[in-house]
Amino acid sequence: MEIEKVAWFDTEKWEKQYLEQKEHDFSVEFFEERLDAETAEKVSEEFDAVAVFVSSEVDEKVLEEIDVDVVACRSTGFDHVDLEKAREEEIKVCNVPEYGATTVAEHTFGLILTLSRRIDEAISKVEDGKFDHSGLKGFDLQGKTLGVIGTGSIGQEVIRIADGFNMNIVASDPYPDKEMESEMPFMYVSQEDLYEIADIITLHCPLTDATRHMISDKEFGKMDETVIINTARGELIDTEALIKSLENGNVSQAGLDVLEDEMFVEEDIEMLSELEDGHDPRKALGDHMLMEREDVIVTPHNAFNSQEALERIEDKTVENLEDGKNFVD
Ligand code: NAI
Repeated sequence: MEIEKVAWFDTEKWEKQYLEQKEHDFSVEFFEERLDAETAEKVSEEFDAVAVFVSSEVDEKVLEEIDVDVVACRSTGFDHVDLEKAREEEIKVCNVPEYGATTVAEHTFGLILTLSRRIDEAISKVEDGKFDHSGLKGFDLQGKTLGVIGTGSIGQEVIRIADGFNMNIVASDPYPDKEMESEMPFMYVSQEDLYEIADIITLHCPLTDATRHMISDKEFGKMDETVIINTARGELIDTEALIKSLENGNVSQAGLDVLEDEMFVEEDIEMLSELEDGHDPRKALGDHMLMEREDVIVTPHNAFNSQEALERIEDKTVENLEDGKNFVD
């Protein structure tokens, strides 16, 4: 399959400049908008592929409308693409499996340290003209137990960094890598035990039908004053259950880079009641409730967002399109 022309959606200015300077075998037309049911009409017949970011929603309607050979995800996750429909339409989907494991792991620790040392509150205080540490007591990471859910590329980098902080590290994964366990400073435990043992839990597994709401009332019930960090996907956590757990003390603080139905967070409350296609307005309302809490910090799906990681994504996506690599099934 030869790709001659690609529609590049969700394009930022720097990306356009970067790709224009870079050599590639195909031509590109850039669109600032994300690809969704409204913008799909821009993908005319002259395009052989679309390149999309996670903010695009490549659902059934979009896949019916676009007549391309490849959907190239400029991301590791591809849960924003309806894979079954893509298969039916004979459209191949590729992703960038590894581009920013260290980048996301560093952001994970950014969230952990912001919570443990109350850095956001401290900065706000100084900005308000108060150079005074009262009310800002945090806690040490040294000696605390970190529970890592998912020991793939990002989970492994998180383990390496956590070891530098002298933390005890436990992990769970349905496909445990015993060799890695013998070489790295952590121990596999069952997910149930991890919920009970860990002081801080960090999620690094993909969103699938099996992992959607993997942490809900039952799982939160096993925790006690636990800190939850999520840089993976919002839908791994049941938002309503998280709010309840913050209220009852099972969870003490949360650091979230991703939220359920996060693409609707910016919609106003009236619009939310009109959401269609299985999007539940309560989830977006729950996101707002989380964002307003003092014991929760939220970053806007930003963990991947370093210059180095972004350039690696562009390079790998070009390679995928030129060489037909990294098809997801
Ligand atoms: P990976 O594929 O290298 O590792 C995922 C690991 O999760 C695998 O070891 C897998 O066996 C494990 N896993 C699968 N189901 C599990 C379950 N039920 N419980 C525990 N572990 C389970 O993926 P990688 O590169 O480490 O990325 C992880 C996730 O991080 C991605 O799927 C993506 O959703 C998210 N991500 C978020 C970014 C952000 O900007 N916030 C950027 C990049 C990735």
